[in-house]
Amino acid sequence: MKKVNILDFARMKEERRKIVMITAYDTLFAKIFDEVGVDIILVGDSLGQVVLGLPNTLGVTMEDMVRHTGAAARGRKWAYLIADMPFLSFQADAAEAIRNAGRLLQAGAEAVKLEGGRNVEATIKAIVRCDIPVMGHVGLTPQSIHRMGGYRVQGKSDAQRARLMDDALAVQEAGAFAVVLEGIPAGLAAEITERLSIPTIGIGAGPGCDGQVLVMQDLLGLFDEFRPKFVKRFGELKKPVQDAVAAYAEEVREGKFPGREHSF
Ligand code: KIV
Repeated sequence: MKKVNILDFARMKEERRKIVMITAYDTLFAKIFDEVGVDIILVGDSLGQVVLGLPNTLGVTMEDMVRHTGAAARGRKWAYLIADMPFLSFQADAAEAIRNAGRLLQAGAEAVKLEGGRNVEATIKAIVRCDIPVMGHVGLTPQSIHRMGGYRVQGKSDAQRARLMDDALAVQEAGAFAVVLEGIPAGLAAEITERLSIPTIGIGAGPGCDGQVLVMQDLLGLFDEFRPKFVKRFGELKKPVQDAVAAYAEEVREGKFPGREHSF
């Protein structure tokens, strides 16, 4: 395998080769996904919900992201590693945003992702000017849950569609190398993808994007409390994991494990 680098993504868009992105938050899973040959591993701030048990992403801190980015970085060899900038790590001022983005690179990320469109244009420019690659994220941006009134599909009205197109263009003009389109109608995502020269990575944005991202617990079927429409489970791993642990518990309780073959 060849190490994926930032130059690959523009080429993939040009050649209409889809970009595969998946989240990971620790060394073990980063290594497992890396061995499959995914293009991008994202240490998402979805960490808050799927690992830390928080109700949303707003409580995720820079310390959390640095810790988990370092862990994922130690597991991957070939994939491009991106780390999310958590809530309040980039909004206050550009200098703080640059420092925090830099900390994520020091932890092992090769780029950072941050949520927002025209409102974060200056911040993206400032970070990119320091040679820190940025991936944008527009549409349903989970850090804006309270402005949006919940996790709602964005871009349904004409005004919203125009605003989202402008957000995507702003992110591109600011120097981002790619942009995540989350929770928007498939037609709009395809239009944005056509209009932008940088690749779009969809999640809940239909098949017209240049790539796709899913949260690992969703696609592996480890998280089954609810299933958003855009999630496809490519495995049903919760059950086999529980079956294995139940078999272990039974053998320990019955005195079958450990046996002589497991003893010194
Ligand atoms: O935090 C995350 O995992 C994300 C992806 C779902 C795009 O931002």
